[in-house]
Amino acid sequence: MALKACLFDLDGVIVDTAIYHFKAWRRLANELGFDFTEHQNEQLKGVSRMESLELILQWGGVTLSDEEKQQWAARKNEWYLAYVNQMTPQEVLPGVRDFLDSLRKAGIGIALGSASKNARLILERIDMLDAFDAIIDGTHTTKSKPDPEVFLLGAQALHQNPADCVVFEDAVAGIEAAHRGGMKAVGVGSPEVLTEADVVITAFTETSWTKLSDELLGWQ
Ligand code: G6P
Ligand code: MG
Repeated sequence: MALKACLFDLDGVIVDTAIYHFKAWRRLANELGFDFTEHQNEQLKGVSRMESLELILQWGGVTLSDEEKQQWAARKNEWYLAYVNQMTPQEVLPGVRDFLDSLRKAGIGIALGSASKNARLILERIDMLDAFDAIIDGTHTTKSKPDPEVFLLGAQALHQNPADCVVFEDAVAGIEAAHRGGMKAVGVGSPEVLTEADVVITAFTETSWTKLSDELLGWQ
């Protein structure tokens, strides 16, 4: 293999929107008469909006019609977008911009692979729309991670073989998606949680493309 492209998840890798998802989902749960914990929110990382709603309703023991589900999901998204609209470029996670710059200089393709239907809006808010050669998001996919669809579409958009791609992910389901797609996976977060990742970093400030690529190719 050669390392020719990097595919990045958005939420939890480029920017931390989990807290905004949490606040919006908790409001939904509270309005439906039950509570929702941060621990439960962890389990929604990388999970699409409608699948997240299904899980939350299950946890709260609430049954809704399909139409009601659509209405609550739309309400949650409005509350979430109120936070997103306040986002600034300062919210990009430490080291991310420098890391992407070094990839560019090394001639590595860069794509986004996110389950979020709001990905473009978020990238616009943090001034990073131009940082990616391709953007694949929840508006392009029909299958959620751990299905590899989002990353395979990313590799295709960059005209690269999956075997030459590296995925950066904070979700267990995302690491599995990368591997199912035949790609390397770098976990961003805790090594205790991201046990299946090929390499785990806690932040982009602690690594460099040179160091990571050596590790991934087994030279270190
Ligand atoms: C990401 C987040 C999930 C979120 C999903 C859909 O994968 O980690 O928590 O549910 O995107 O986001 P959306 O912005 O489309 O509701
Ligand atoms: Mg994520």
